[in-house]
Amino acid sequence: MSLNASIDATAMRAFRDSFPALKRWVYMDVAGRGVLSTHTRQALDRHLDERMFNGGDKDSFFALIETTRARFAQLINAQPEEVSFTKNISEGLNMVATGIDWRAGDNVILCAELEHPNNVYPWLNLQKLGVEVRFVKPQDYHIPIDQLAARIDERTRCVTVSTVTFAPGYRTPVKALGEVCRARGVPLLVDAAQSAGILHTDVEALGVDALSVSTQKGLLALYGMGFLYVKKTWAEQLHPAYLARFGVDLGKAHEAAMGDYAFSYAPGARRFDLGNFNFAATAAVNASMIQLMELGTQHIEAQVLSLTRALVEGFLAMGIPVAGGEPGPHLAGIVTIGNPSANHYGTDEDRFNRLYEYLGQNDVKLSIRRGMLRFSLHAYNNREDVDRVLDLTRRFFATA
Ligand SMILES: Cc1ncc(COP(=O)(O)O)c(C=O)c1O
Repeated sequence: MSLNASIDATAMRAFRDSFPALKRWVYMDVAGRGVLSTHTRQALDRHLDERMFNGGDKDSFFALIETTRARFAQLINAQPEEVSFTKNISEGLNMVATGIDWRAGDNVILCAELEHPNNVYPWLNLQKLGVEVRFVKPQDYHIPIDQLAARIDERTRCVTVSTVTFAPGYRTPVKALGEVCRARGVPLLVDAAQSAGILHTDVEALGVDALSVSTQKGLLALYGMGFLYVKKTWAEQLHPAYLARFGVDLGKAHEAAMGDYAFSYAPGARRFDLGNFNFAATAAVNASMIQLMELGTQHIEAQVLSLTRALVEGFLAMGIPVAGGEPGPHLAGIVTIGNPSANHYGTDEDRFNRLYEYLGQNDVKLSIRRGMLRFSLHAYNNREDVDRVLDLTRRFFATA
């Protein structure tokens, strides 16, 4: 083993050891929510202690905001002023959707059947302005980027996709779509719920103009917080629907300073900042991003892909239907088994419902989405986790 590989293995082990939940669970549900590390918990505790014992020092809270903004920017290869703070993905998507200067007859294009509802309703809501929401049909559960491209015309103001669908969990060829959008001068907005923190993400290389993410999944922090990246050149054409002090450019003036009534928006995506921030959740995600970046997002992606590949191959070897079949370019951090349906509470096949229960009884955390069993992995998972799930599945079907 090379020195680098052994350092990586040691770092991966130390990373895994920092998640107490993994002592009990084979945790394969980051697509629902990740687990917290002791580092993240300590950062949160420090923040809460400061609030409890001292009330809190606002200057240091604002410094934390800027450190975290810069850290998220670095994570996705953006500039700090291209990042704003949100409370979840929907809020970020709505900020962009309502910030576009729509004229009746403009259109937005998406593959609604594979999007999370939170990347569909923001667009449907624009129909009241005369915006046309153009739908393309999925192709065998893939988002068809050629179809999206084919629907672009001179009235298209935005194309939106998720980087990885929440079910069946296929990776969208975002780079190829980004190239088309760029060539046609149409901004591309992505919902990165299922990729940020898990797949290496470089918004410049991908040709992404805006990206919305929450912090409780692959970023391994808390609910109720997210980030919105908007490329500076696009952000500065957008008009925030909501505006408050932090979205206004008043230089370094005090947070309570009122400027002229004739105001200008803060540069870049900062115009979407509103009032006070979720400092506690920011402390948490700042700590978890430090851990992720110490491992390196390329290493994280490689680790996750090697595990999901092994899981897919193991299921296929047992004759179990895996969405997408053999590992290919669609593979990300999610593996779904069974047959798709509209059911999020169970599967349409009794044997998979019973397998789900059996895995749960044996301390495997997973979820059911669109009628399939969904296993979703992060860098804290290891080969033993995969082998345990395959072993339990084999045992279940041997006795079922
Ligand atoms: C692809 C995708 N988008 C959005 C969301 C949730 O959006 P929000 O953060 O607004 O609750 C999820 C959550 O499961 C998701 O998987």
